Amino acid sequence: MTFRPIASEEDLRLAHEWLTDPENAPFFDWGRDTLPILTFRVMVGKPHDVYRLFTADDSDDPIGLAVLSGVNLTRKTADYWIVVGSKPHRGQGFGLRALNAMTQYAFAVLGLDVLHAFVAGPNRASLRVFEKGGWQCTGRQRRGHWMHGQLVDRLFVDILREEFRQPESPAYEWAEDGSGRKGGA
Ligand SMILES: CC(C)(COP(=O)(O)OP(=O)(O)OC[C@H]1O[C@@H](n2cnc3c(N)ncnc32)[C@H](O)[C@@H]1OP(=O)(O)O)[C@@H](O)C(=O)NCCC(=O)NCCS
Repeated sequence: MTFRPIASEEDLRLAHEWLTDPENAPFFDWGRDTLPILTFRVMVGKPHDVYRLFTADDSDDPIGLAVLSGVNLTRKTADYWIVVGSKPHRGQGFGLRALNAMTQYAFAVLGLDVLHAFVAGPNRASLRVFEKGGWQCTGRQRRGHWMHGQLVDRLFVDILREEFRQPESPAYEWAEDGSGRKGGA
């Protein structure tokens, strides 16, 4: 599994396709409308935010996007979100591995103290991944999320730096140059 930045127009369009897929979009804030590619381009360009495409273990082709957005280096906080865009790769542990890798990056490299995320109530897979990653569910906003034409509850999850237990075998590579070539973790 390799993590690399969005480094080309092709990367940007692939990630945008995943995020606006009608099966995925309802889980995000833009579910009610669309996410224009121009808006996504601006999001990806934010200087402190971390957008990382990730691959499976047997290919350099990206299968998903993991993000630390709203990174605040003064307060040491960020929001986390993810899409495993390649549907055949779901249910194989990549969501959890990406969560652990991005959490590790946030605490060890960026020096953050807390990460926040939200989960649409019906998104059982996402909630399960956060639970397995050691995140805590801290609250429920009743009817806080618009999904498939109705309001559902929105759950809030978070993890503090001191709560994170790095898995013994992280099993990922970090390629900062965007090439997809494997580099140091
Ligand atoms: C949520 C998502 C990231 C999970 O990625 P993934 O690679 O499939 O996750 P993993 O394989 O690491 O783990 C999935 C877990 O959820 C469980 N799961 C899957 N569907 C489930 C369901 N309907 N109900 C309960 N648990 C479910 C799996 O059994 C697995 O848990 P287990 O290992 O204990 O069996 C992926 O489904 C996705 O991209 N969804 C669309 C976008 C999205 O929801 N993003 C999250 C917004 S923060």
